[in-house]
Amino acid sequence: MDLKEKLRACGQEHLLCTAGLGEEERAAYFKQLSEIDLTLPRVLGNEAPKRGKITPIEGLSLREIASRRKELEAAGMQAIGEGKVAAVLLAGGQGTRLGFDGPKGTFNMGTKRRPHYIFQFLIENLLGVCRRCGGFVPLLIMTSEKNDKATREFLHEHANFGYPEEYIRFFVQEMYPCTDFDGKILLEAPGKVALSPNGNGGWFSSLKKAGIPEEFPKVEWYNVFGVDNVLQSIADPAFVGATVLSGTPCGVKYVKKKRWHERVGVLCLEDGAPSVIEYYELPEQLARAKDARGELLYACGMTLNYLFSAKLLNEIVSSEIPVHTVKKVIPYLDAAGKTVLPKKPNGYKYETLILDMVRLSGACLPFEVAREEEFAPVKNKHGRDSVSSAKRMLLRKRKLYGKKN
Ligand code: UTP
Repeated sequence: MDLKEKLRACGQEHLLCTAGLGEEERAAYFKQLSEIDLTLPRVLGNEAPKRGKITPIEGLSLREIASRRKELEAAGMQAIGEGKVAAVLLAGGQGTRLGFDGPKGTFNMGTKRRPHYIFQFLIENLLGVCRRCGGFVPLLIMTSEKNDKATREFLHEHANFGYPEEYIRFFVQEMYPCTDFDGKILLEAPGKVALSPNGNGGWFSSLKKAGIPEEFPKVEWYNVFGVDNVLQSIADPAFVGATVLSGTPCGVKYVKKKRWHERVGVLCLEDGAPSVIEYYELPEQLARAKDARGELLYACGMTLNYLFSAKLLNEIVSSEIPVHTVKKVIPYLDAAGKTVLPKKPNGYKYETLILDMVRLSGACLPFEVAREEEFAPVKNKHGRDSVSSAKRMLLRKRKLYGKKN
């Protein structure tokens, strides 16, 4: 089917208008159209499938981990030492809540005189593990078209904060077209489709497209983590060991929820399979429910730190991952060719979410981590999960455990 027929078949024939475009621009435009998923609006109307039966999930508690630490760490260090583990840093987000003009990882958490950047915290943490295991872990950094150049330049300028270049790879996540509320794809400029990053659930298909798994054929496990938790432990040997020994294809790090209404996604079982429920989707009655010891039944708060087996990832066809829609303000070109900057949401952005991969795993190991040791997210400018709350936690940890942490 040629492009024109395809556009018609998808109800996007308005994109055929190329008035005012020169030959080169038209060729570039058609190339862009042939590369994007024109069928995405298919998801409109069925974005929120009915949830199944929710029941609590049993995790590996801090106490159990402490009593088996030696055994778990030994198994993890062996896997890491044999080159079976890679670290995947999800750094393609736009960090709108932080309101910082640049990739989130380049944000300075220190002072002007003594800067300490988010990327630096993460890399220093990983370097600590590499030293213990006597080998480097491939560090695979996902960026987006919007922040790729700035991210690469920043890390280059800082000599990757000591991480060896040959173990670092960058890959760019894909973009999805934006549409109006009727599913019509929008243009941001003449001959230019309005695009936005496709969410963090597309990381493995983008990694594969970039040919990175072939460069590290020994890798059997991918530890995927978000850019904004400055306390997290990456390629944590105990976590790796526990997941490998559990025989499940997926490990999930969680912190115990402090309060029933804490705004954090919760890991549970949905129709018997592991699933992450967003805080606003969990009915209050379940959120408040307690066990016989008086503890919250649904307490596994997500930290965005997962371990997936390569085998599982290869089995999950990317088209299986659900596509979600978000109402957003999207600047667009109107029918008269004028750029419009709407004041309120005028259309949808489309995205896939990594948490859906947990459900597709079929079985996982929930692995508890102590909040004060491993969870200091930097999401907002002020208040909850902000720069200042993360700084307080970093300071507290340093006081508790000394400088080496
Ligand atoms: P968030 O959901 O916090 O989104 O991403 P964000 O874009 O960073 O921030 P806001 O919502 O605009 O304020 C969680 C993790 O997933 C990554 C982010 O970089 C972060 O590490 N992510 C998110 C991507 O890599 N790509 C995306 O398209 C979205």
